[in-house]
Amino acid sequence: LSPARPLDGDARPSVIAHRGASAYAPENTLAAVDRAAALGVDWVENDVQRTKDGELVVLHDDSLRRTTDVEEVFPGRAPWKVKDFTLAEISRLDAGSWFDPAYAGARVPTLEQFVDRVERHRQKLLLEIKNPQLYPGIERQTLEVLGDEGWLDRRHVGHRLIVQSFSADSVRTVHDLKPAVKTGFLGTPPVADLSSYAAFTDQINPSHGSLSAGYVAAVQAFDGAHGKPLEVLTWTVNDAAAARRVAGFGVDGIITDTPDVVRDAVGG
Ligand code: G3P
Ligand code: CA
Repeated sequence: LSPARPLDGDARPSVIAHRGASAYAPENTLAAVDRAAALGVDWVENDVQRTKDGELVVLHDDSLRRTTDVEEVFPGRAPWKVKDFTLAEISRLDAGSWFDPAYAGARVPTLEQFVDRVERHRQKLLLEIKNPQLYPGIERQTLEVLGDEGWLDRRHVGHRLIVQSFSADSVRTVHDLKPAVKTGFLGTPPVADLSSYAAFTDQINPSHGSLSAGYVAAVQAFDGAHGKPLEVLTWTVNDAAAARRVAGFGVDGIITDTPDVVRDAVGG
């Protein structure tokens, strides 16, 4: 493996449970956080969106259809967008049965509930702001919830919290609102553009299919928003060979549905 590129002060890439340990429990539920904790995984990734009545919830798709029973509970409400349902309505949905009947009754968590569970396990949070174009002001609101939950204090900021997005505007907004918070941009910007990204982000987080050793090295040669070398977290790496490949490129972290497999492969 490459020499140290420590996200956690370790020479090996950090292992991050994607949507929780989502190969083994329904994604973005408290059960998936618990499963990651049971595997001894201390970083958890999630996706944050907003309900019709303005509450932040943890869900990947902008529609409730794939990961809940919303079609059965609210049959006339296609296309079942998160933004068209209140929190009370979403709280009635089963977010576990689609994955496995053993998880029947799992709920779509609020961001507060999710963060509380991560905190209870003493884990770390890689929070993705999803579809920010649908939710004006979601960056400020997310930071307010994190602040209310104590995640902007010194015990968390800098080493236990990263806020990332596919939207550069959203990442920049988070950085401008709360410069102390570590940020990540999801994507693979051209090397020629990296200096502009480095003004507001601490990480460049590409899909592993688009990754090369040269690109990782080029990113890490820049200093990011906090004056430290830009980090690279890559996603979504679910098998041992791919994990070894990206570890060999010197990435700082690997985002995975199967954190046990990746940890066994790279020793993170
Ligand atoms: O954290 C990276 C990864 O989650 C981005 O893709 O679609 O799974 O949110 P997606
Ligand atoms: Ca995500």
